[in-house]
Amino acid sequence: MRYKSQSVAYWYFAVAMVLFGLQIVFGLLSAAKYLGPDPLLYILPFDVTKTIHTNLLIVWVLTGFMGATYWLVPEESRTELHSTKLAYIQLILWTLMGVTAVIGYLFRYGTGNKLLEQPLPHKIVIVVCMLIFLYNIGMTIKRSGRLTTTEGVLLLGLALSAVLYVPALLHYENYTVSIFYRWWTIHLWVEGVWMMIMGGFLAYLLIRLSGIDREVMEKWLYVIVGLVFFAGILGTAHHYYWVGVPQYWLPVGGFFSALEPLALAAMAIYAYAAMRRGGVRHPNTLALHWTIGSAIFALFGAGLLGLAHTWPSVNKWTHGTLITAMHAHSAFYGAYAMIVLAMVTYALPGLTNRPHNRYSPLGFWAFWLQVSGMFGMTLSFGTAGIAQVYLERIMGMGYLDAQLKIQVHFLMLILAATIFATGVALFIYDFFRHRPQFQVVDDGVVAEDDAHLRTTTGR
Ligand code: HEM
Ligand code: HEM
Ligand SMILES: [Fe+2]
Repeated sequence: MRYKSQSVAYWYFAVAMVLFGLQIVFGLLSAAKYLGPDPLLYILPFDVTKTIHTNLLIVWVLTGFMGATYWLVPEESRTELHSTKLAYIQLILWTLMGVTAVIGYLFRYGTGNKLLEQPLPHKIVIVVCMLIFLYNIGMTIKRSGRLTTTEGVLLLGLALSAVLYVPALLHYENYTVSIFYRWWTIHLWVEGVWMMIMGGFLAYLLIRLSGIDREVMEKWLYVIVGLVFFAGILGTAHHYYWVGVPQYWLPVGGFFSALEPLALAAMAIYAYAAMRRGGVRHPNTLALHWTIGSAIFALFGAGLLGLAHTWPSVNKWTHGTLITAMHAHSAFYGAYAMIVLAMVTYALPGLTNRPHNRYSPLGFWAFWLQVSGMFGMTLSFGTAGIAQVYLERIMGMGYLDAQLKIQVHFLMLILAATIFATGVALFIYDFFRHRPQFQVVDDGVVAEDDAHLRTTTGR
């Protein structure tokens, strides 16, 4: 840790870890319900456990983004944070919002708008937290007068995420209108501005972990952002196929969303090329696993498995089936869970005062169990989804009858999910087993990067 105020990141990561663990508990609960019998049917039905599962996911990933940004900005801008007090107020408000929202869902208090179920008071708190966050980061950069491209891309992604939450604040009576605007938040987050956030973290980590030149990395970051915007904005239309809007959205959605994997492929090539050309210069090889792993898993889950069902002629059969769950898990995990875990793994030695090369085999077990478990879950959802589409949509079998026929895939799902959950438990254990210790020491790698910056920027 190079700046004292970077220590706030630890508490954000700690909250994220707890919520991650809870998310997995509710995931397992949801999956168990596929098999039945369900003793909790009238207390915690599937719709409630699924809502809690997905909302915890969004909250922990965003908590991770915030913590990682509070870690990254002081280093990139070479200054202390504007206010650690504000950062803690924000974290407390944010955590209270997340926890009370989950308690509310237990009592059916929510809007019912998938992934945006937060009641209005909670949504307002979310906006307040985002404003505090952006203000704090903005003031930090203003004070230092230094803004690198890496943090610029990251911050633009964060600021646009806040702007795109605005449509989620409004209520629409008409169902089609409501769905139409819902995707402005959900799709443009995960396939637009969050990819900028991922790109920013990826660039930061690759610059630190490999010996690659900052200038080269930042130049290619622009290309990735360009590709994201080019395909991602009109790609939103792949959610408009069957929602009651005019037909022209079909070709628009098909064409532009089919180009979306380009940005994901570019990110994977970016990571590979950085390692190939720059080599490994940092002792934290576990963080390297998470970083490269994220770029590759995102290409698989979001790029490949997104492309698989983005064509209107395919999506008319697969829409809203377990094929969607197959893609949703692998994409979200690869792109956003793994990049947060990469940032946590990179920052943790500095926050617990253990050397970077002191990750025990436990950390590597956590990585491989999660990756293989999530791969197995993806295959299970995928095979279940293919059978579901054939039985239910092509043969015309009833929904519940089809579900009974695909029980074997659900058993596979639970098996793979258990492997995955073991990996998550190990990661969380590894995180908490070292007490936080905030000692300001100069990390040689950062100093080297600074020396390079001085020569290229003349500062
Ligand atoms: C990191 C990037 C991505 C993430 C995190 C992600 C996540 C998700 C999630 C959570 C859903 C379900 C949404 C819901 O029904 O409420 C979804 C749906 C969908 N995604 Fe992605 N996605 C990503 C990238 C992509 C890409 C690049 C493509 C296309 C090439 C794609 C194609 C689709 C399609 C077609 C659906 C609708 C499925 C249906 O009709 O039921 N996604 N995605
Ligand atoms: C032990 C691990 C997990 C299990 C057993 C699990 C199980 C489930 C189940 C059963 C559903 C409901 C699917 C449906 O509507 O039929 C679901 C939804 C979802 N899960 Fe998980 N999950 C796990 C971990 C994760 C992780 C790590 C992520 C992301 C990083 C994730 C993201 C999602 C998303 C985005 C949805 C909504 C998908 C949709 O609407 O189609 N889950 N999960
Ligand atoms: Fe989308």
